[in-house]
Parts: sequence; C-alpha cells; structure tokens
Amino acid sequence: MKFIAFNVRSDEEKYFKAWEAQNDLQVRCVSGPLTNDELDSVAGYDAVLALQTGTYPQDMFKKFKEYGVKVFSIRNVGVDNIDLKAAKENGVLVTNVPAYSPNAIAEFSVTQLMQLLRNITLFRNKVAAHDFRWAPYVGKELRTLTVGVIGTGRIGRAAINIYRGFGAKVIAYDLYPNPTLEKEGIYVDSYEELFKQADVITLHMPATPSDHHLIDKKAIAQMKDGVYIINTARGALIDTEALISGIKEGKIAGAALDTYENESPIFNNDLRNKELTDSLFKQLLELDNVLITPHVAFYTETAVENMVTIALNSAREACEKGTAETLVK
Ligand code: COI
Repeated sequence: MKFIAFNVRSDEEKYFKAWEAQNDLQVRCVSGPLTNDELDSVAGYDAVLALQTGTYPQDMFKKFKEYGVKVFSIRNVGVDNIDLKAAKENGVLVTNVPAYSPNAIAEFSVTQLMQLLRNITLFRNKVAAHDFRWAPYVGKELRTLTVGVIGTGRIGRAAINIYRGFGAKVIAYDLYPNPTLEKEGIYVDSYEELFKQADVITLHMPATPSDHHLIDKKAIAQMKDGVYIINTARGALIDTEALISGIKEGKIAGAALDTYENESPIFNNDLRNKELTDSLFKQLLELDNVLITPHVAFYTETAVENMVTIALNSAREACEKGTAETLVK
C-alpha cells in the first residue's frame, strides 16, 4: 500500500512518523497543496491524503482514476469543497474525520465570545496606549444571556455543555434535532424564533447550498439589538457585507469570525509583505468589535493528532476493505 499526503505541516509530521512506525507503512509527505501542477505526482499511490480549505483541482477524481488512486482521505471534517459526485463517478472512496475534537472548536468559540463580552480588544488597545481607565466599557456576564446555538451536532453539543456550565440560557435550532436535547426542550421552531430570542448566535453547522448566507440582511434585522455573532463553522454562512453594515449601524455588538467566505487565499498564508486586495476583508479588519482568526478553532494538539491518525487509519481501512467507518456517502 502506498500513501501520499499533501499540505503536511511541521506540527503534523511527528504524528505521520508515529503512524508509519506503528503500521509499517511509508507515507510520502508533501508540504505544498494539492494543485493541478501536483496531480501527476499521485500516480501509483493507493490513497491520497489532504487538508485544504480552498478548492481542489477540477478534474482531480478523473485523474485519480487514471492513476489508480482508490481512496481520498481528508484530515478534516468539512466536505463542502469536495465534488462527491465526481468521486463516485470515478470510483474513488472519500473518507473524512468527523470528530477529531469537537471540544477544540466549541472551546474556541466560547473563548472568542468571552473576549467580546469583556471588551478585551478595546482594553488591550487602551493599555498599549497607557490609557488605564474603565468607563464606559462595562462587560456582560454569560449567565445573564441567552445563547442561540445553530447546529447541534457534536460541536454544537460541546458548545451547549460549556455554555450551560457558565449558567447561560441555551436555545438551539437544527433541521435534524438531537433526541436528547429535544426532550430537554432546548429547540425553538425556526431560525426566526432563535434570531428573536438570542443575545448570542453561534454557528456550528456545515455549509450547504441552501444555507448560503443564512445570516443576511433580513436575518440580522430579525435579531435583538446588540446581538453577538460567532462563526467557527463556514464563512459562506454569513453575508459579510450585511454583517459589516449590521456592525456599523450598532445592531450587532460584536462578531468573532474564524471563517470568512473568501478565506482561502488569505488564511494559513504568509501575507506579511503583501498588500491585501480583498476590500471586504480589509473592512472587517478595521472594526474594533470584530475578532478575526485564521480558521484556527480546530487547532489543538489533540485535534491535530486525531486528524492525522484517523485519516491514515481510514485510508488504510478503505484500501483494505473497500469501505471505512468514516466513509463519506
Ligand atoms: C474542518 O475540519 O472542516 C475544518 O473546518 C478545519 C480546517 C482545518 C479545515
């Protein structure tokens, strides 16, 4: 069995090495992304592993078939950038890592909210300028707030547990309610109801075409004045232009964005000496009450180890059995 892995970061290498030693299998690790130019290098490998937030090459699965690649294993959960139809047509099995660490993302989203609630960016800036006064930037306590969780899969449920620990009232919406949470009466009947009641809206759902710009001008108008919006899910869920307007008009008190709809040329890239060309993104950066992080909510030691190990195990399982527990259907 021969595996090739793309986009391998330095922090992942030790987990690849450990797996290779344990499994007596060599993995060729490539630090660059899987692009059109790299496609020829997959020839002769049984499985390709990758992790990228942007697009994959257009005819990737056709090429995989041509080159004998049977399995494509991603080291992340989201499959919104993968052409699953093309994978099926070309007989390539796709696996993902559905649960590398829901807590990593849930904890990060709560962390970001706490920063917003206590005006941390503002106080840091003030302290840097030797302005040590308090007023009028009084904070809010989570136990006084209603948190609206959209999406109650593994990550949403981990977030709910954390918020409950802080004493917040939690409400939720999901097209496919979780039976246990349903019994607890956590669900509201519609997005609109959640928008109306929540002081904080936190997104924990995948992006599908029907949810594109779920948070748009109309949705924002339905929200409470002074709402906080947290997005550690997918950038496409938020109409950034509408969000910026909502913030500028004071309707939205703050937003924490770990994902952004046009993030792939920006996040996880070194643009220090380059001019940013995305004017929408530049506007976001200028807002004091917007926290931008480069899609790092997942990024913990536990998550990284699981992403590498589970993806490799899945690739092996799929090659050996023609199916895998983590098969994406
Ligand atoms: C995912 O697992 O889908 C994420 O959003 C994490 C990122 C490394 C792509």
